[in-house]
Amino acid sequence: MSFFAEVPLAPPDVIFHLTASYQADTDAKKVNLGVGAYRDDNGKPWVLPVVQKAKQVLLNDPNLNHEYLTIRGLPSFTEAAAKLILGPDSPAIAENRAVSAQSISGTGAVYLGALFLSRFYSKSKTVLISNPTWANHKAIFEMVGLDVQQYNYYDRETNGLDFEGMISSLEAAPEGAIVLLHACAHNPTGVDPTMDQWKKIAEVIKAKKQFTFFDCAYQGFASGNLDRDAAAVRYFVDQGFELFVAQSFAKNFGLYGERCGALHVVSQNSEINNNVKSQLEKLNRATISNPPAFGARIVSLVLNDPTLFQEWVDDFQIMANRIKEMRQKLFHYLTEELKTPGTWNHIVDQIGMFSFTGLTAPQVKVLKEKYHVYLTDNGRISMAGLNTGNVEYFARAVDDVVRNVHQKSQI
Ligand code: LMR
Repeated sequence: MSFFAEVPLAPPDVIFHLTASYQADTDAKKVNLGVGAYRDDNGKPWVLPVVQKAKQVLLNDPNLNHEYLTIRGLPSFTEAAAKLILGPDSPAIAENRAVSAQSISGTGAVYLGALFLSRFYSKSKTVLISNPTWANHKAIFEMVGLDVQQYNYYDRETNGLDFEGMISSLEAAPEGAIVLLHACAHNPTGVDPTMDQWKKIAEVIKAKKQFTFFDCAYQGFASGNLDRDAAAVRYFVDQGFELFVAQSFAKNFGLYGERCGALHVVSQNSEINNNVKSQLEKLNRATISNPPAFGARIVSLVLNDPTLFQEWVDDFQIMANRIKEMRQKLFHYLTEELKTPGTWNHIVDQIGMFSFTGLTAPQVKVLKEKYHVYLTDNGRISMAGLNTGNVEYFARAVDDVVRNVHQKSQI
C-alpha cells in the first residue's frame, strides 16, 4: 500500500494549462490570450531595454557575489519599492510605521501576508475576494486556512463595476473581515473603481473595522502613470488605515521568472511596526529562508538611479500604450468594420493587461476549437497577446461566435 494512495488528482491550473495547450497547438494562426504576460507587436516576450542595461551593470560589477540576502531581502530594493508604491513622501515611511519584506513576486507577497494574518489576526477568519476573482487569490487564502468569501464586483449587463453590489457585499460582510482589493487594473476584469468610488469603499471598510489587503501587480503598467496606479493605496494610507500591500515587479519590469516582489505593511506606530517586522522575518525564514537576489538587484539599480528610472518609465509606457492601441483596434474592428452585435465600449474602458469580454464559455470553446484562440472560460483576454498581425483575425472570430453561438453560460 502506497503512503500516497489517498492523494487525489488535482485539476490542472487553468492559466498555465492554457499556455501548455497553446504551445502544443501546431496551427499557424494560433493566438494566446491566456496568461497575463506582455508580448511585443511580433508576439514575442520583451526584455525591457532598461533591464538589459541593468543586467550588464551587474555582470560588470567585480564585487558582485552570490551570498545570501538578508531574511527580509535586499534593503536598497525594499526601501525603493516601498517609496514607489506608498509615495516618496508617505507619512507611514516618515513615521517609521511601514515595514517591507521581499517576497517571491506578487504571489509570494500575498502568501506571506495571508500566512501572517492566519497566525496573528484574530478579529475575523473571513477573507473577501472579488467576484470574479484571480483564481490564485482563492487558492492562497484557502491554503492558510482562512474562510474565503466573495464580494460583488462585476456587472455582466454593463461589463463595468457593480459598485452598488460591491458596497452592499462589504456592508453585509462580517465586521473585521479581511478585504482583498486590487490596487489597479483588476484581474481578471480590467475594471477599476473611480477615485470617488474608492473613497466610498474606504468609508465602508473603516465603518466595518475591516482590514485592507491591496494586491498591486501593475503599477505603471496599468495607466502608464505610477502615481495614478498607486492612488487608491496612498489614499487609504492618508486616511490612517493600517494595511498590507502585495507588490509585484513581474509585469512592470517584465521580470516574470525572477520572482521579484515585496509585502509592505503599514501599521499604527513604530513599536507595532517593529513587532510586525520580527514576525515577517520569522515567516520568510521558515518558508523561503531568504529571497532570490537577481531580480531585486535589477529593480534596485533602476529605482535608485534617476537616469535608469526615467528609462524604465519610458519602457513601461511603451507597454501600456501598445495595449491601449490594441484596445482601440479591437474596438474599431468590432464596432466599425464588422458591426458585431452588442456593445463593446468596455474593451476601451477597461484598463491594464486584461479585458473581460463578456464572451461565454461555449463561445470560448468555439474560439479555441475552430480558431485556435486561447483564453480562459470566463471570457478574460490578455490584451498583450493581441498585435497588429492578429487583432483583425481575433475580431472576426469573436464576430462569428457572437453571431452564431448563443448557448448561455454563467462563469
Ligand atoms: C495571470 O493572471 O494570467 C497572471 O497573473 C499569471 C498568473 O500567475 O496567473
